[in-house]
This record gives sequence, structure tokens and C-alpha cells, in this order.
Amino acid sequence: MKLPDKVTIKEVGPRDGLQNEKQMLSTEDKIEWINRLSETGLSYIEVSSFVHPKWIPQLSDAAEVVKGINRKEGITYAALVPNAKGLERALEASIDEVSIFMSASESHNQKNINKSIEETFPVLEEVIQIAKQEHKPVRGYISTVFGCPIEGAVSTDKVILVMDRLLEAGVDEISLGDTIGVAHPSQVEDVLKYIQRHVPKERIALHFHNTRGTALANCLVALQHGYTTFDSSIGGLGGCPYANGATGNLATDDLLYMLHGMEIHTNIDSEKLQSAALFIQSKLQKPLLSHQMQIFNAKGDVYEKNR
Ligand code: HMG
Ligand code: MG
Repeated sequence: MKLPDKVTIKEVGPRDGLQNEKQMLSTEDKIEWINRLSETGLSYIEVSSFVHPKWIPQLSDAAEVVKGINRKEGITYAALVPNAKGLERALEASIDEVSIFMSASESHNQKNINKSIEETFPVLEEVIQIAKQEHKPVRGYISTVFGCPIEGAVSTDKVILVMDRLLEAGVDEISLGDTIGVAHPSQVEDVLKYIQRHVPKERIALHFHNTRGTALANCLVALQHGYTTFDSSIGGLGGCPYANGATGNLATDDLLYMLHGMEIHTNIDSEKLQSAALFIQSKLQKPLLSHQMQIFNAKGDVYEKNR
């Protein structure tokens, strides 16, 4: 089995993790946490979101966070942006990269950003155009690629339609989101085989959720097909808004354990990452749900101690 030697992990915990946490963290704690993440070897951190603060109050301090962190050379600090108003705020804070987002399914798009898919394109095209004028790279998330909480199955043709429009408008990288964590390895294989006819693998990232325990298996399939960019959230932070009690984003620490065990390089120091996970766990005052953190919290890993 030929696998890539090196993988890029895009840490989304400070944005995708915190947006799904009920508890509000202080701006100082977010800044301290992101500074610690910057010392782990990560090359990309999505630090916050410039959506409407009423929709995601947990991230209403996005500008203060972006302005307050110590920016380390070689790291891209990105943020989510839904429209021109959000972009204006993000540019004012001097964000490095802009992440736009929309869904492959109509009803999720409507629920998430209050617009139909067709109405969303001109809004995002404007964001892309201004971001490009400002020389900012643009990443385009497509949510509900593998299934929608409202509509169920989502056809890959719908994903391709959205992807083609975003790429035509100038998006640099597409992140394919399994927003509700329903994807399984054979589905991932089918979708990736279809998608690779439309877009080079280097421009695709995979954003898996572990709601049903399939995220790492899905990553392995993507690796086997030559995909090398993955989004994940430290400690599995973020839960799932559509499945109470379930985990959401794939945990960065669990992904690292698998990749490093397979001798796939990430440039990330697992111990430093764990220390950043412990920091945020102490601030949220609840155990993080990644497998690595569960083992740590139970203080029961004889294997790790003897390795
Ligand atoms: P809307 O209410 O339709 O906005 O919300 P609007 O354009 O009609 O404007 C209404 C008012 O909001 C105006 O103010 C605007 O200026 C203001 P007024 O004139 O009434 O005083 N406004 C803003 N203020 C600050 N920042 C802004 C902004 N935009 C408008 N950016 C909107 C539309 C898109 C803004 C809203 O629906 C929204 O913020 N939605 C975001 C929800 C969200 O963040 N969801 C989670 C995203 S994560 C995700 O989708 C999945 C992903 O993680 C991948 C995965 O996990 O699968 C990416
Ligand atoms: Mg996510």
C-alpha cells in the first residue's frame, strides 16, 4: 500500500471547535491557546469566524483574537467569512487567509446562512473578488458533502456543481465537509474517484467528523487515493450540533497518532499538541472526547508509558 510521506493538518479547533461549545471562553484564554498551538509545528490554524455575532456569539471577539495572537512566521492564520461585511472585518484584523463556506444541500445552506444555494454564489463571488484584490488566498468549504441532517443523501453531482462554481470564481482550495459524520470508507472512495476527474488532488482538503466513529478510516481511504490535506480539531473539540452527546470534528491528536504510527510526517509535535489540549480542557472545565485525551484523563495508558 503506497501512502504519502507527508500530510498537512489544518487545525480548526479555535473556530470549528469553539463555535459548537456552549461555554464562552475569554478572549485572553483563546489568545493564549492559539499561541500555544503556534508552538506545536502546525502550519495552519483557523483562529475564528467573522460571521454575524448573533449567530455564533462564542466567536464574537474574532477581531480581538486575530489582533491579539503572536503570529509565528510560516503559519497561516485563517478565519471563516460569510459575506462582504465579514470580509471587511477580517481584513481590518489582517487575517492571512479567508475561508468561505456553503453547503451542497439546499436546506442546510438555507438554515446555516439564510440563503438558497443560488443566492449564495454572488455573495461569495464578491468575497472572493475582494479577497483576491487584497492578495489573500481563499479556501472554500463545502458542507454536507456526504449527507445532510435535513435531506439525507446528497448526490455528488450537487457537490461538483458547487465546487465548480467556487473554483471558477477563484477559490484556491476546497475543503469537503462530512458535516454530520455519516461518511464511511466506501462512500469516501466513490466520492473521491468522481471528484478527482474535476479537480487536482492538491486542491482538495478533507474535513471529516467522527460522529459515528468512521473519521480515521475515511482519512486512510483518502490517503490511499493520494490526498494529503486534512482538517481536524484538537481534542475532538466541538461536539455535533445535530447529534446530542456525539463527537464532532475528527480530533487532531487521534489523527496524529495514526499518521505518526504509519511514519507519515506532519511536522507537529504530539506532546506540545497534547499540552495545548490540556490547556483548553482546563479552561472549558470538561473532558475532551478525543481517544488520546480519554486515555490521558483516565491515566491508564500502560502502553504509552512503556514505549
Ligand atoms: P442575515 O441575517 O441573512 O444577514 O445573515 P443580512 O445580510 O440580511 O444582514 C443582516 C444584518 O446583519 C445587517 O445589519 C448586516 O450588516 C449584519 P443591519 O443592517 O440590520 O444593522 N451582518 C453582519 N454583521 C457582522 N458580521 C457579518 C455580517 N453579515 C451581516 N459577517 C449571515 C446572513 C450569513 C451573516 C448569517 O446567516 C451568519 O452569520 N451565518 C453563519 C452561521 C455559521 O457560522 N454557521 C456555522 C458555519 S460552519 C459550517 O458551516 C461547516 C464547516 O465547519 C464545515 C463542516 O464542519 O462540515 C465550515
Ligand atoms: Mg467541522
